[in-house]
Amino acid sequence: MDEKRTKLTIPDLLAMVERGEKITFLTAYDYPTALLEDRAGMDMILVGDSGAMCLLGHRTTLPATMDFMITITAAVSRAAARAFVVGDMPYMSYQPSNETAIRNAGRFIAEGGADAVKLEGGARMAERVEAIVKAGIPVMGHIGLTPQAASAIGGLKSQGRSAATAKALIEDAKCLEEAGAFSILLEAIPAKVAEVIVGRAEVPILSIGSGPACHGQLLIVHDILGLFEAFTPKFVKKYADVSAVMLGAFQAYIKDVKDGAFPAREHTYTIPKEEWEALRGSLGA
Ligand code: KIV
Repeated sequence: MDEKRTKLTIPDLLAMVERGEKITFLTAYDYPTALLEDRAGMDMILVGDSGAMCLLGHRTTLPATMDFMITITAAVSRAAARAFVVGDMPYMSYQPSNETAIRNAGRFIAEGGADAVKLEGGARMAERVEAIVKAGIPVMGHIGLTPQAASAIGGLKSQGRSAATAKALIEDAKCLEEAGAFSILLEAIPAKVAEVIVGRAEVPILSIGSGPACHGQLLIVHDILGLFEAFTPKFVKKYADVSAVMLGAFQAYIKDVKDGAFPAREHTYTIPKEEWEALRGSLGA
């Protein structure tokens, strides 16, 4: 349990990188989960558009809307006393124009209480990153496997496994850094390619499935808790089987209700004796 409850800032994250301390990063989509992550000492929380899949049951992240993302980001921000909160910009909330991107990024900060936003794409999104940063909002870049572009990149697959695509990722990371991104997330790229990017970077490089050289590690909370059953990427480590705990509790509740074992006396309210007598009298019982 981390005793420091003051909000982490970008200089705090840079200081962690400087002293070689790994940054811990996990998604959250609701208040109680974010509260526990924060209490556990998580450094950063991503309110990912993966919430469209993990919470709402969609098959992709694309149906996540700005209103949905703002609602869940605000819930997470209310819980995050210490953790640095990153709001994930959903599909088509930043692609159309710089103006759209700035307006929507601003909603994450003003309405969602986030500390920064994240958006997907490398060099092709550098202009958007620069525009949002110039508006005073910290931006995390996200390259490699970018789920919003899944159909264009051949599905939810590891990226940068040829010399040419790896070189493009290394250039993408530089472009994002030059555009002002305060950090860059690498998703599902080879560990050796990530190591090159880390070696050339002057901002924190975070990994989801991109190996140990990165300055910090991100995973999806439903994956580590065993709550997302549709598929499990190779890079996931499962830390608990919460599905089994929930299933067991639901089955025990069903059995208790069917058997009449619930509610027991201690779960019911009583009426004072004289009130009960008065009621019975008034009902002629
Ligand atoms: O939405 C999300 O959780 C993400 C991660 C997969 C990086 O963008």
